[in-house]
Amino acid sequence: MVEASSFKGRDVVSMLDFNREEIDFILDKASEMKPLAERGSDLLKGRILATLFFEPSTRTRLSFEAAMHRLGGGVIGFAQPGVSSIAKGESFEDTIRTVENYADVIVVRHPEEDSAVRAAKVAEIPVINAGSGPWEHPTQALLDLHTIREAKGRIDGLNIALVGDLLYGRTVHSLAFALANYDVKLYLVSPPQLKMRRDVLEKVEGRLNYVETGDLKSILPELDVLYVTRVQRERFPRPEDYEAVKDAYRIDREMLRDAREDLIVMHPLPRVTEIATDVDETPHAWYFRQVRHGLYVRMALLALVLGAL
Ligand code: NCD
Repeated sequence: MVEASSFKGRDVVSMLDFNREEIDFILDKASEMKPLAERGSDLLKGRILATLFFEPSTRTRLSFEAAMHRLGGGVIGFAQPGVSSIAKGESFEDTIRTVENYADVIVVRHPEEDSAVRAAKVAEIPVINAGSGPWEHPTQALLDLHTIREAKGRIDGLNIALVGDLLYGRTVHSLAFALANYDVKLYLVSPPQLKMRRDVLEKVEGRLNYVETGDLKSILPELDVLYVTRVQRERFPRPEDYEAVKDAYRIDREMLRDAREDLIVMHPLPRVTEIATDVDETPHAWYFRQVRHGLYVRMALLALVLGAL
């Protein structure tokens, strides 16, 4: 049996650090946050969240900040490293050591893969990884699972496709780690250049039932969940490599005629061209509802690591 107290003081660095019982527990707590999000709460009154964003963000930063406000807490932080003392040459570690004197929990997004691990190592207070370069984005995976559970009532038994940039996309890495705890069939759909990272697959070997393919059309009719991702332009070493794959997949309404009636289309957002806007008005579109789940999941995580539940 998982207890809320076991999350107190914990870091949320990698999806690999959480087992199925813990994930389900967090998702249950996220569902309980729904009414609190609507009417507000003082569960985290007097607590302070620091959001340190060294990379662009809309949803992740704002939903963490909104989550803290909805629970009655306060928020400090920066969204551009250029305005912090990093610009004067301060190290990442020193920045974390400084900020932990002002806050009770730190949410950090940084271009380096080991950033969250490094932050968690130096900080005494909980560190939540909001994106560690191209490696992981665990809170996105939790909100993705929450969305699937809301839409389908379960995660086990589903056919799920992750489509697009499986090499540089951090959300699909964390999601693959998370899904390894469930009985799903996973299709990894990408152009050959953007196949799922081998080190991700190594970590779930034997625990995840997956197939790699480039052909979305042929598997589409079998799917319960189509999880589409943006090709991560900013991670490509050479612009011409991005140009070669940027339009590899484009989902539109016409194409979804071959899909199950109850297929849900998800996307961590932002989208560029990979989902046509004509999908937005179909019952398949879940990506904007998915955004809302980010609020509930982040409320639950903040309350859990701060020991308020
Ligand atoms: C994702 C990210 O930052 O990794 N965005 C998000 O947090 N919802 C996906 C992306 O940028 O493509």
